[in-house]
Amino acid sequence: MAGRDRGPFIAGNWKMNLTLPEARGLAQKIVEAGAELRESTIVLFPPFTALAAVGGTLAGSAIGLGAQDLFWEDQGAYTGEVSGPMLKEAGCAYVLIGHSERRQVFGETDETVNRKLGAALRSGLSPIVCVGEVLAERESGRTIERIDAQLAAGLRGFAPEDLERVVLAYEPVWAIGTGKTASPGQAEEVHAHVRRRLEERYGKDRASCAIILYGGSVKPANSYPLFKEKNIDGFLVGGASLDAGGFVGIAGEALRAYREEK
Ligand code: 13P
Repeated sequence: MAGRDRGPFIAGNWKMNLTLPEARGLAQKIVEAGAELRESTIVLFPPFTALAAVGGTLAGSAIGLGAQDLFWEDQGAYTGEVSGPMLKEAGCAYVLIGHSERRQVFGETDETVNRKLGAALRSGLSPIVCVGEVLAERESGRTIERIDAQLAAGLRGFAPEDLERVVLAYEPVWAIGTGKTASPGQAEEVHAHVRRRLEERYGKDRASCAIILYGGSVKPANSYPLFKEKNIDGFLVGGASLDAGGFVGIAGEALRAYREEK
């Protein structure tokens, strides 16, 4: 069964936003919309400090909880860091790794992505590994080269079984928070390439089951045509995930495309 046969996977990355009451309120509205989104997988990624509160609101619902980052060691003298076991204990099932903001603002490298991926898998979390090119790379025709380098170094050393819990997210950096979405064709080209690379490494069956998300200025208006593309299995949503209507609208439009396919 291909990854998208399980329905759209819609992740909301709240980044460094929302007070606790706002976070609880947003989660509650998404829980209330849960019935209409039943055939999709919905996961929310609040800031660390809101994990417990949002986890409480999501309890008993089908909506998953994830963290925006983790450290590669499980415990110790690492001031300011949060480990995989801590995230598990806080109720997380997912964790983002290698988001472009972590790479660009906090010096995350493919090597640290690789170590964090190991930590996430060891802790029983499902990692969402983010890759994507910057504008200069796209404009000089080096998009695929960049994605290949991120995949090769980020996934180095993992066994085929490990892939079953790994979700990939293609987020072109020039599309994040800019309102400039990749066209469905641009996104599909990279998604199809990522799937081919996964097939080379892990075999056809595992590659076809892998979930590959698109992220970068996703909104209700572009969710349907993006999801119509064969290799786009869902979305990693930033800005629009801070508004219940926008987020539920994105999921609803992806579901509309999904239902037409069935
Ligand atoms: P925007 O949807 O705000 O462009 O952010 C995308 C993103 O970075 C999700 O992780």
